[in-house]
Amino acid sequence: MKKLLLVFGFLVVFSGAGIADQLTAPSLWKNQRGSELRITAVGANGSLRGTFTNYASGFQCQGIPYPIAGITTPGPTTFTVNFVKCRTVTTWKGSASIFGMPTEWVLRYDGQTQTGSDFFFRVN
Ligand code: BTN
Repeated sequence: MKKLLLVFGFLVVFSGAGIADQLTAPSLWKNQRGSELRITAVGANGSLRGTFTNYASGFQCQGIPYPIAGITTPGPTTFTVNFVKCRTVTTWKGSASIFGMPTEWVLRYDGQTQTGSDFFFRVN
């Protein structure tokens, strides 16, 4: 009986942990490259307002907060940044949970495409 309860407990905890969350405002997120995602408002329809500041080494346009456009749902969250000065547009897509938000991104510059992953962890 004890074992059964333990297994049930694990199932509850780990199935719950897999459920994605909507982003909330205000919140501040950092990724593994040191870049910052600041969420200042979430609309009733999940629309996102905020800024993204790039600090990733090997990339340009560092330290400039650019506005984000995006949408957050209890499932996926997507946001786009137009790094105007660099003529680069990047879109991230991921799912937030209590552990953070793993994302995949697509960067477009001068007709070329680059892809990668960023993991965002909440800092505030
Ligand atoms: C550029 O170098 O053309 C503009 C800045 C791009 C920064 C990219 S976006 C994806 C990746 N994740 C980051 O935090 N920064 C880089």
